[in-house]
Amino acid sequence: MKKLLALVCSAMMFASCGAQKEKALVVYYSQSNTTKTVAQEIQKQLGCDIAEIECVEPFNGDFNAVVSRWQEDQKAGKLPELKPLAKNISDYDVIFLGYPIWGGVYASPISSFLKTADFNGKKLVPFCTFGSGGLNTSVDELKKNVKNATILEGYGIRQARIANVSSEVNQFLIKGGFKQGTLEQLPDFSAQKECTDQEKEIFTEATSGYQFPLGEATSVAQRKINGGTEYLFNVEGQNGAKSQIYVIAKDGAKPEFTQVVR
Ligand SMILES: Cc1cc2nc3c(=O)[nH]c(=O)nc-3n(C[C@H](O)[C@H](O)[C@H](O)COP(=O)(O)O)c2cc1C
Repeated sequence: MKKLLALVCSAMMFASCGAQKEKALVVYYSQSNTTKTVAQEIQKQLGCDIAEIECVEPFNGDFNAVVSRWQEDQKAGKLPELKPLAKNISDYDVIFLGYPIWGGVYASPISSFLKTADFNGKKLVPFCTFGSGGLNTSVDELKKNVKNATILEGYGIRQARIANVSSEVNQFLIKGGFKQGTLEQLPDFSAQKECTDQEKEIFTEATSGYQFPLGEATSVAQRKINGGTEYLFNVEGQNGAKSQIYVIAKDGAKPEFTQVVR
């Protein structure tokens, strides 16, 4: 037994000597500091480097001002000019790339950034913040535009739920193998079935505070999570557009939606 233990220990030591720790960089754009909060959380939890993508002419002003400049740029086929990045991407193995969702994909300064950044052979880990959703659609767009990197599973959080960033980033980094720790094991969702009145009420409570209508729940699946239940609603919008909306209902708390997948 002692011999076996010694063998296992030496094998483990060999493995840890042989494995080179990957060098990570967090690169992000943030117009109103929500994505910056996530970026800084990743940087803090990994103890890695961080660099902000900044526009020569920043997107200043309130939501409407930002939307109108972004739309004018789009009409003119223009992308924002960027300041040089403070870090050199070629010095890193893993790049965490963060952005807010604009129009269902990454914000336009990221499009500018992708024009010149060289991710050849790197691992790219997308993360984003949004009003309702956009992780899947922005990662699809990233995959179309970055061909020479390995794009890993991403992370997204609603701006309204940013208070949960620390625990969610912790789980995300453990799941991705970037740090050690205990991964919360979740059961699979049940099969989809017609919503009961109570489930419809939960859906309404979770989504009615949002500034845009999100549609009607048609069916639902659920699973137990720590301290409550997570729901996955199939939803139909006014124009017939279909989406899936995740809702968490912790015991004694108001249900909230975590993301819309379109
Ligand atoms: C121009 C613009 C377009 C946006 N488009 C979307 C969108 O399509 N979907 C969405 O869920 N949120 C959208 N949002 C909301 C932002 O993604 C959200 O507020 C984000 O957390 C802001 O991040 P930041 O503080 O890092 O800039 C948009 C915001 C702006 C300013």
